[in-house]
Amino acid sequence: MHSNRHKGRVVLVTGAASGIGAAIARQYALEGASVALIDVNAEALAAFAAGLEREGATVAWACADVSDYAQCEVALGQIEQHLDAPVDTLVNNAGISPKTNGKPANFWEMQPAEWQKVVGVNLHGAFNFARLVTPGMVQRRFGSIVNMSSVAGKAFVGFTAAHYGTTKAALIGLTRDLAGELGPYGITVNAIAPGRINTPLMRTASNETNQAVIAETALRRLGEPSEVAEMACFLTAPESRFVTGQVVDVAGGWLLT
Ligand SMILES: NC(=O)c1ccc[n+]([C@@H]2O[C@H](COP(=O)([O-])OP(=O)(O)OC[C@H]3O[C@@H](n4cnc5c(N)ncnc54)[C@H](O)[C@@H]3O)[C@@H](O)[C@H]2O)c1
Repeated sequence: MHSNRHKGRVVLVTGAASGIGAAIARQYALEGASVALIDVNAEALAAFAAGLEREGATVAWACADVSDYAQCEVALGQIEQHLDAPVDTLVNNAGISPKTNGKPANFWEMQPAEWQKVVGVNLHGAFNFARLVTPGMVQRRFGSIVNMSSVAGKAFVGFTAAHYGTTKAALIGLTRDLAGELGPYGITVNAIAPGRINTPLMRTASNETNQAVIAETALRRLGEPSEVAEMACFLTAPESRFVTGQVVDVAGGWLLT
Protein backbone atom coordinates (compact mmCIF):
# COMPACT_ATOMS: atom_id res chain seq x y z
CA MET A 1 0.00 0.00 0.00
CA HIS A 2 1.36 3.41 -0.96
CA SER A 3 -1.15 5.60 0.86
CA ASN A 4 0.04 8.68 2.70
CA ARG A 5 -1.21 7.35 6.04
CA HIS A 6 2.16 8.01 7.74
CA LYS A 7 2.56 11.54 6.38
CA GLY A 8 3.88 13.90 9.02
CA ARG A 9 5.27 11.04 11.14
CA VAL A 10 8.91 10.62 12.10
CA VAL A 11 9.77 6.93 12.18
CA LEU A 12 13.03 5.64 13.65
CA VAL A 13 14.12 2.19 12.45
CA THR A 14 17.12 0.40 13.96
CA GLY A 15 19.14 -2.07 11.92
CA ALA A 16 17.91 -0.17 8.89
CA ALA A 17 20.78 -0.86 6.49
CA SER A 18 19.79 -4.40 5.54
CA GLY A 19 17.00 -6.94 5.24
CA ILE A 20 13.80 -6.35 7.18
CA GLY A 21 14.89 -2.98 8.60
CA ALA A 22 15.65 -1.58 5.14
CA ALA A 23 12.29 -2.81 3.84
CA ILE A 24 10.52 -1.21 6.81
CA ALA A 25 12.23 2.13 6.24
CA ARG A 26 11.36 2.06 2.52
CA GLN A 27 7.70 1.17 3.23
CA TYR A 28 7.28 4.02 5.74
CA ALA A 29 8.88 6.41 3.25
CA LEU A 30 6.45 5.21 0.57
CA GLU A 31 3.62 5.89 3.01
CA GLY A 32 4.74 9.48 3.54
CA ALA A 33 6.84 9.35 6.74
CA SER A 34 10.19 10.96 7.38
CA VAL A 35 12.51 8.10 8.20
CA ALA A 36 15.36 8.06 10.72
CA LEU A 37 17.80 5.25 10.11
CA ILE A 38 20.15 3.70 12.67
CA ASP A 39 22.71 1.00 11.98
CA VAL A 40 26.16 -0.05 13.17
CA ASN A 41 27.32 -0.56 9.57
CA ALA A 42 28.10 3.01 8.51
CA GLU A 43 28.99 2.23 4.90
CA ALA A 44 25.86 0.19 4.18
CA LEU A 45 23.71 2.72 6.02
CA ALA A 46 25.05 5.70 4.06
CA ALA A 47 24.50 3.88 0.75
CA PHE A 48 20.96 2.85 1.68
CA ALA A 49 20.05 6.33 2.95
CA ALA A 50 21.38 7.92 -0.26
CA GLY A 51 19.27 5.52 -2.33
CA LEU A 52 16.11 6.34 -0.35
CA GLU A 53 16.77 10.05 -0.76
CA ARG A 54 17.12 9.60 -4.50
CA GLU A 55 13.69 7.94 -4.42
CA GLY A 56 12.33 11.14 -2.88
CA ALA A 57 12.20 10.21 0.82
CA THR A 58 12.97 12.56 3.71
CA VAL A 59 15.79 10.74 5.50
CA ALA A 60 18.08 11.24 8.48
CA TRP A 61 20.63 8.67 9.51
CA ALA A 62 23.17 8.09 12.23
CA CYS A 63 25.59 5.28 12.89
CA ALA A 64 25.23 3.68 16.33
CA ASP A 65 25.62 0.36 18.08
CA VAL A 66 22.17 -0.08 19.60
CA SER A 67 23.63 -1.94 22.58
CA ASP A 68 25.43 1.24 23.69
CA TYR A 69 23.06 3.70 25.40
CA ALA A 70 25.39 6.68 25.03
CA GLN A 71 25.75 6.09 21.28
CA CYS A 72 21.98 5.79 20.92
CA GLU A 73 21.48 9.06 22.79
CA VAL A 74 23.92 10.92 20.53
CA ALA A 75 22.38 9.38 17.39
CA LEU A 76 18.84 10.30 18.43
CA GLY A 77 19.93 13.88 19.10
CA GLN A 78 21.54 14.13 15.65
CA ILE A 79 18.47 12.73 13.93
CA GLU A 80 15.93 14.91 15.73
CA GLN A 81 18.07 17.98 15.06
CA HIS A 82 18.37 17.09 11.38
CA LEU A 83 14.63 16.50 10.97
CA ASP A 84 13.69 19.26 13.41
CA ALA A 85 10.99 16.99 14.83
CA PRO A 86 10.73 14.31 17.52
CA VAL A 87 10.42 10.59 16.82
CA ASP A 88 6.81 9.45 17.19
CA THR A 89 7.18 5.91 15.85
CA LEU A 90 9.97 3.54 16.89
CA VAL A 91 10.75 0.20 15.24
CA ASN A 92 13.26 -1.76 17.32
CA ASN A 93 14.46 -4.05 14.56
CA ALA A 94 18.25 -4.47 14.95
CA GLY A 95 19.15 -8.02 15.84
CA ILE A 96 21.86 -10.62 15.47
CA SER A 97 21.94 -14.41 15.51
CA PRO A 98 25.60 -15.51 15.48
CA LYS A 99 26.47 -18.80 13.81
CA THR A 100 29.69 -20.53 12.79
CA ASN A 101 29.59 -22.37 9.46
CA GLY A 102 25.80 -22.16 9.51
CA LYS A 103 25.54 -23.61 13.02
CA PRO A 104 24.65 -21.91 16.32
CA ALA A 105 26.80 -22.49 19.42
CA ASN A 106 25.83 -25.31 21.73
CA PHE A 107 24.79 -23.76 25.03
CA TRP A 108 27.37 -25.76 26.98
CA GLU A 109 30.15 -24.36 24.79
CA MET A 110 28.91 -20.78 24.42
CA GLN A 111 31.35 -18.05 25.38
CA PRO A 112 29.96 -15.55 27.92
CA ALA A 113 31.03 -12.73 25.57
CA GLU A 114 28.79 -14.11 22.81
CA TRP A 115 25.81 -14.38 25.21
CA GLN A 116 26.35 -10.80 26.39
CA LYS A 117 26.73 -9.48 22.84
CA VAL A 118 23.41 -10.99 21.70
CA VAL A 119 21.57 -9.83 24.81
CA GLY A 120 23.15 -6.39 24.34
CA VAL A 121 22.05 -5.95 20.73
CA ASN A 122 18.71 -7.79 20.69
CA LEU A 123 17.34 -6.79 24.10
CA HIS A 124 19.27 -3.84 25.52
CA GLY A 125 19.11 -2.21 22.08
CA ALA A 126 15.32 -2.19 22.26
CA PHE A 127 15.41 -0.87 25.83
CA ASN A 128 17.84 1.88 24.85
CA PHE A 129 15.79 3.45 22.07
CA ALA A 130 12.47 2.87 23.85
CA ARG A 131 13.87 4.56 26.96
CA LEU A 132 15.13 7.49 24.90
CA VAL A 133 11.97 8.20 22.88
CA THR A 134 9.24 7.46 25.45
CA PRO A 135 9.62 10.63 27.58
CA GLY A 136 8.62 12.72 24.56
CA MET A 137 5.85 10.32 23.58
CA VAL A 138 4.41 10.42 27.12
CA GLN A 139 4.59 14.20 27.15
CA ARG A 140 2.83 14.45 23.78
CA ARG A 141 0.35 11.64 24.62
CA PHE A 142 1.17 10.09 21.23
CA GLY A 143 3.43 7.42 19.81
CA SER A 144 3.86 3.83 18.80
CA ILE A 145 6.55 1.19 19.12
CA VAL A 146 7.11 -2.09 17.29
CA ASN A 147 9.61 -4.63 18.61
CA MET A 148 11.00 -7.25 16.22
CA SER A 149 10.68 -10.58 18.02
CA SER A 150 10.69 -13.93 16.21
CA VAL A 151 8.88 -17.23 16.06
CA ALA A 152 12.04 -18.38 17.88
CA GLY A 153 10.88 -16.22 20.82
CA LYS A 154 7.68 -18.26 21.10
CA ALA A 155 8.87 -21.80 20.39
CA PHE A 156 12.05 -23.87 20.42
CA VAL A 157 13.07 -23.94 16.76
CA GLY A 158 16.31 -25.88 17.19
CA PHE A 159 18.61 -23.94 14.85
CA THR A 160 19.10 -20.68 16.73
CA ALA A 161 21.17 -20.61 19.89
CA ALA A 162 19.72 -20.07 23.37
CA HIS A 163 20.68 -16.40 23.51
CA TYR A 164 18.64 -15.64 20.40
CA GLY A 165 15.40 -17.32 21.51
CA THR A 166 15.79 -15.93 25.01
CA THR A 167 16.16 -12.34 23.81
CA LYS A 168 13.28 -12.71 21.35
CA ALA A 169 11.06 -14.05 24.18
CA ALA A 170 12.19 -11.15 26.36
CA LEU A 171 11.09 -8.70 23.67
CA ILE A 172 7.60 -10.16 23.96
CA GLY A 173 7.73 -9.45 27.71
CA LEU A 174 8.98 -5.91 27.05
CA THR A 175 6.16 -5.39 24.57
CA ARG A 176 3.52 -6.51 27.08
CA ASP A 177 4.88 -4.41 29.93
CA LEU A 178 5.39 -1.25 27.87
CA ALA A 179 1.93 -1.62 26.32
CA GLY A 180 0.41 -1.76 29.81
CA GLU A 181 2.43 1.11 31.19
CA LEU A 182 2.29 3.43 28.19
CA GLY A 183 -1.28 2.74 27.06
CA PRO A 184 -2.78 5.36 29.39
CA TYR A 185 -0.65 7.93 27.54
CA GLY A 186 -2.04 6.97 24.12
CA ILE A 187 1.03 4.98 23.10
CA THR A 188 0.72 1.55 21.45
CA VAL A 189 3.40 -1.13 21.70
CA ASN A 190 3.29 -4.33 19.64
CA ALA A 191 5.69 -7.01 18.47
CA ILE A 192 6.12 -8.88 15.21
CA ALA A 193 7.27 -12.50 15.20
CA PRO A 194 8.65 -13.19 11.72
CA GLY A 195 9.12 -16.73 10.50
CA ARG A 196 11.85 -17.41 7.96
CA ILE A 197 12.40 -14.23 5.96
CA ASN A 198 14.66 -13.92 2.93
CA THR A 199 17.48 -11.69 4.28
CA PRO A 200 21.26 -11.93 4.88
CA LEU A 201 20.57 -13.04 8.48
CA MET A 202 18.49 -16.00 7.29
CA ARG A 203 21.35 -17.00 4.97
CA THR A 204 23.71 -17.46 7.96
CA ALA A 205 21.90 -20.77 8.52
CA SER A 206 22.58 -23.72 6.24
CA ASN A 207 20.51 -24.34 3.12
CA GLU A 208 19.26 -27.62 4.63
CA THR A 209 17.96 -25.74 7.68
CA ASN A 210 16.11 -23.22 5.55
CA GLN A 211 14.64 -25.93 3.32
CA ALA A 212 13.44 -27.79 6.43
CA VAL A 213 11.69 -24.65 7.67
CA ILE A 214 10.01 -24.17 4.29
CA ALA A 215 8.75 -27.76 4.49
CA GLU A 216 7.23 -26.98 7.93
CA THR A 217 5.68 -23.69 6.76
CA ALA A 218 2.03 -23.89 5.73
CA LEU A 219 2.57 -21.54 2.76
CA ARG A 220 5.70 -23.55 1.74
CA ARG A 221 7.97 -20.58 1.08
CA LEU A 222 10.19 -18.01 2.76
CA GLY A 223 8.73 -14.62 3.62
CA GLU A 224 9.90 -11.43 1.99
CA PRO A 225 11.16 -8.44 4.02
CA SER A 226 8.42 -6.28 2.46
CA GLU A 227 5.79 -8.58 4.01
CA VAL A 228 7.15 -7.85 7.50
CA ALA A 229 7.42 -4.15 6.63
CA GLU A 230 3.74 -3.97 5.70
CA MET A 231 2.79 -5.38 9.12
CA ALA A 232 5.02 -2.84 10.93
CA CYS A 233 3.35 -0.02 9.01
CA PHE A 234 -0.11 -1.41 9.79
CA LEU A 235 0.64 -1.79 13.53
CA THR A 236 1.57 1.89 13.79
CA ALA A 237 -1.14 3.26 11.49
CA PRO A 238 -4.49 4.84 12.41
CA GLU A 239 -6.24 1.61 11.30
CA SER A 240 -4.76 -0.25 14.28
CA ARG A 241 -5.05 2.43 16.98
CA PHE A 242 -6.95 0.03 19.32
CA VAL A 243 -4.34 -2.73 18.97
CA THR A 244 -1.65 -2.88 21.64
CA GLY A 245 0.37 -5.46 23.57
CA GLN A 246 0.06 -7.98 20.72
CA VAL A 247 2.54 -10.28 19.03
CA VAL A 248 1.70 -10.78 15.37
CA ASP A 249 3.27 -13.70 13.50
CA VAL A 250 4.34 -12.94 9.94
CA ALA A 251 5.44 -16.48 9.38
CA GLY A 252 3.40 -18.10 6.61
CA GLY A 253 1.91 -20.53 9.11
CA TRP A 254 5.20 -21.91 10.47
CA LEU A 255 4.78 -23.79 13.77
CA LEU A 256 1.04 -23.24 13.94
CA THR A 257 -0.39 -24.00 17.36
N1 LIG B 1 15.39 -12.98 8.63
C1 LIG B 1 14.67 -13.77 9.40
O1 LIG B 1 14.36 -14.92 9.03
C2 LIG B 1 14.18 -13.28 10.76
C3 LIG B 1 13.27 -14.08 11.44
C4 LIG B 1 12.80 -13.67 12.67
C5 LIG B 1 13.23 -12.47 13.22
N2 LIG B 1 14.12 -11.70 12.53
C6 LIG B 1 14.57 -10.46 13.16
O2 LIG B 1 14.39 -9.37 12.27
C7 LIG B 1 15.38 -8.37 12.55
C8 LIG B 1 16.10 -8.00 11.25
O3 LIG B 1 16.72 -9.17 10.75
P1 LIG B 1 17.25 -9.29 9.24
O4 LIG B 1 16.96 -10.66 8.82
O5 LIG B 1 16.77 -8.15 8.45
O6 LIG B 1 18.82 -9.20 9.51
P2 LIG B 1 20.00 -8.52 8.66
O7 LIG B 1 21.25 -9.15 9.18
O8 LIG B 1 19.71 -8.53 7.22
O9 LIG B 1 19.94 -6.99 9.15
C9 LIG B 1 20.21 -6.62 10.47
C10 LIG B 1 20.73 -5.19 10.48
O10 LIG B 1 21.00 -4.86 11.85
C11 LIG B 1 22.25 -4.21 11.91
N3 LIG B 1 22.85 -4.37 13.22
C12 LIG B 1 23.42 -5.50 13.73
N4 LIG B 1 23.93 -5.24 14.94
C13 LIG B 1 23.65 -3.93 15.22
C14 LIG B 1 23.94 -3.09 16.31
N5 LIG B 1 24.63 -3.52 17.38
N6 LIG B 1 23.51 -1.80 16.27
C15 LIG B 1 22.85 -1.34 15.16
N7 LIG B 1 22.57 -2.09 14.10
C16 LIG B 1 22.96 -3.38 14.13
C17 LIG B 1 23.09 -4.87 10.83
O11 LIG B 1 24.21 -4.08 10.45
C18 LIG B 1 22.06 -5.04 9.72
O12 LIG B 1 22.03 -3.90 8.88
C19 LIG B 1 16.30 -8.97 13.61
O13 LIG B 1 15.91 -8.50 14.87
C20 LIG B 1 16.04 -10.45 13.51
O14 LIG B 1 16.31 -11.14 14.69
C21 LIG B 1 14.62 -12.08 11.32
